[in-house]
Amino acid sequence: MAGAIYRKPVSFALMATVAVLVGSVVTMAYPMLRPEMHPRLDSLKAFTALQLAGRDVYQREGCVNCHTQTVRPLRSEVVRYGDYSKAGEFYYDRPFLWGSKRTGPDLAREGGKRPDAWHYKHYANPQSIEKKSNMPKYAFLAEARLDPAEVASHMRALGLAAAPEELAALAQKTEMDALVAYTQWLGHAVQRKAGGGALDLAAVNPLGDSPHAIARGQKVFADNCTACHGDEGHGVPEVAPDLLDDSFLGEKPDMPDGAWFALIHDGSDAKGALGRKGMENGGMTAFGGQIPDDDIWAVISYLRAQMAHEKKEAPTMEKVEHKGQERKP
Ligand code: HEC
Ligand code: HEC
Repeated sequence: MAGAIYRKPVSFALMATVAVLVGSVVTMAYPMLRPEMHPRLDSLKAFTALQLAGRDVYQREGCVNCHTQTVRPLRSEVVRYGDYSKAGEFYYDRPFLWGSKRTGPDLAREGGKRPDAWHYKHYANPQSIEKKSNMPKYAFLAEARLDPAEVASHMRALGLAAAPEELAALAQKTEMDALVAYTQWLGHAVQRKAGGGALDLAAVNPLGDSPHAIARGQKVFADNCTACHGDEGHGVPEVAPDLLDDSFLGEKPDMPDGAWFALIHDGSDAKGALGRKGMENGGMTAFGGQIPDDDIWAVISYLRAQMAHEKKEAPTMEKVEHKGQERKP
């Protein structure tokens, strides 16, 4: 009796199909409709109209062919890019732009890593910053105006809100502005800090002014810092501040070595702990984990030596003026 079904191939096939379909609905379709499958980080902000327009440019230009937007939970990736990607970060991403090819670096943690001005310069001409880069030049984006009506309809289609003034303001913006705004949006929902370097503002540079450390620091500086702070360390207008003057993050006086270490290690994320406002969009890269701690101290040794050197060369009048606020040794 129990074996009767096995002798009716057609009924058997039909029943098997129904059983598989019910199984699929219960294990796949049903969970897909549940809210737990669509997590959203509390810190995640929806796209503004300008950022969404930038995302459209990113899709249209095929940036996804050379860049991924997902950090895998592997040590090598977390050390290089920052915290691994969370499902809840992609709530507004339709479609996803995870990508699968990394000709260039992953961009999931790109926002806040560099100042806007750096991106404008880099997008217009990547080779002006990275000589051997094979990234195409996108200078033409700075000529292309946005169409507010088109962006508005895309915002509506995704169910995102935009005030009429926000949309009207798009008429003054270019595709380049939009792409930079989108770039700075990437990864804003997670902490970007690379390593857990506890802040110790009173830390004294263990390498001091040893000639070996200064020579090492000069090389570290040339390899990592000149693109933003200039060949001499005197800064680049609107990109990064002068490192050799007597202010720090836009305020006087300069701060001790421990604060320098914290800022170079943790990037602009360290600003709050240092109690200084600095540049509005930040943009100082976190080098912790990217270069060894000893190299951070060495670059501080080098920059301090440059400051001392320039002070010596300054005219006597200046020296007298600054005497009262000289740094403690
Ligand atoms: C042919 C491959 C290629 C294409 C296409 C490409 N890139 Fe790149 N990109 C690179 C390479 C290689 C680098 C690393 C060298 C450099 O900084 O230029 C890079 C670097 C970058 C960086 C700096 C990342 C960092 O933290 O160092 C950003 C941001 C970026 N690309 C964004 C874009 C955007 C946006 C587009 C599309 C408009 C794009 N790229 C198209 C190859 C590409
Ligand atoms: C991508 C561009 C960029 C790179 C690369 C970069 N910086 Fe910066 N740096 C900045 C910006 C932008 C600020 C201002 C940060 C802020 O206000 O949030 C800054 C601030 C600083 C400050 C604070 C000093 C002051 O007077 O305000 C120090 C110190 C510093 N950087 C050192 C370094 C060193 C050392 C390197 C190389 C290891 C380096 N930076 C590489 C962009 C950069």
